[in-house]
Amino acid sequence: MWLSIAFPVVQPSPCTAPALRRELIAWYSERARKSLPQVTMRQGAKAHCSAPPRIDDPSTVWSTWVQSVEWIDPIREQRFRDEVRDLLWPVLGLRRGGVAVDVGCGGGAVTRALARWMGPGSKVVGTDRDVNFLHYARRRAKEERLGRRLRYLQGDALDLPLPDNFADAMTSYTVLGHISDTKRFLTEKMRVCRPGGRVSVLEVRGKAGLASSPRRSGRPSAREQELWRPLEKVWRKSVDEPWRVASAEVGLAELPDLFEQLGLVEVMLESFSSVNTLEDARITPGEALRHLSAQERWLLAQVDRSAALLKRPLPPRHLSSLRRCIKTRYEKLRRWVRDGVHTWDFSVSLSLAVSGRKP
Ligand SMILES: C[S@@+](CC[C@H](N)C(=O)[O-])C[C@H]1O[C@@H](n2cnc3c(N)ncnc32)[C@H](O)[C@@H]1O
Repeated sequence: MWLSIAFPVVQPSPCTAPALRRELIAWYSERARKSLPQVTMRQGAKAHCSAPPRIDDPSTVWSTWVQSVEWIDPIREQRFRDEVRDLLWPVLGLRRGGVAVDVGCGGGAVTRALARWMGPGSKVVGTDRDVNFLHYARRRAKEERLGRRLRYLQGDALDLPLPDNFADAMTSYTVLGHISDTKRFLTEKMRVCRPGGRVSVLEVRGKAGLASSPRRSGRPSAREQELWRPLEKVWRKSVDEPWRVASAEVGLAELPDLFEQLGLVEVMLESFSSVNTLEDARITPGEALRHLSAQERWLLAQVDRSAALLKRPLPPRHLSSLRRCIKTRYEKLRRWVRDGVHTWDFSVSLSLAVSGRKP
């Protein structure tokens, strides 16, 4: 059963070893610039699928239980298109050839955007505790030939594997909302930021967005929703609550004030919106089909994973009906893409950026 999951369990890799920290410092230091050490990309551990994925392992929890990297990363690519570069440049404190860190980088879409924007000679470090996300991010960096500018490190956002005063820009996108200690998250970012650099937090406001009510809906039917209910319930209790998924301690509107209280100066605010739809003309049918297949794989895996958490197993008929609903729906969605049929199923999300300069 576990062979079918989208993100196989991997053994945690010791990515934050002291040697790597030294390597990073050397990578950044002016003296070393002439002979930039080419660090071998760490590929993450090999997958093994002999046991059900563990729910208590921070190095795999996100990719196994919370979000599919193949699902989230293309959405982030849509949001961090080159069109938003000029808007975000001052608020993030970017500079050409500079150094930036993206904390909780996930699949790396933001880090790749930063590396493109800051250009040759720039250094961007993505950190995350989830090895599967990092593995994906490294692969994508290589594919986009951005490997020289990008490094990915495993580490907790509250204890970053980076030296003091390391970066010009310290950012994060949709991470603060999952962190239990907001102040520590910010002060840790301030530690790694150099004096004069910028610390920023970017978050998305789902409720401030806009969602369409499409005539042709590819959304779950009432029957499918009903079948999901017991699984969602057990997932919320076993994953959502213990891992504090989307349970921010501090509201977005309070952030600028908090930035000032922590000693950051010249606090700035910016916002940008994005249309999330697979029918965006910039997305090819091939990409849309890949995206749909990734979603379907993730949902089918969620059925199995969540069912295994239940104390009283559901009747096999329940699970097979749910799988059938998912497969039928995604088959329909793929047919529409292949036939060029638009559903106009989209949402608009609003992202907010708050930043302050470290004196
Ligand atoms: C909603 S995802 C956002 C990923 C990425 N920033 C993006 O927008 O595509 C949240 C990310 O934060 C990471 N994360 C959550 N808590 C963390 C922590 N305490 N330390 C490091 N990473 C964390 C998760 O592994 C996940 O990759």
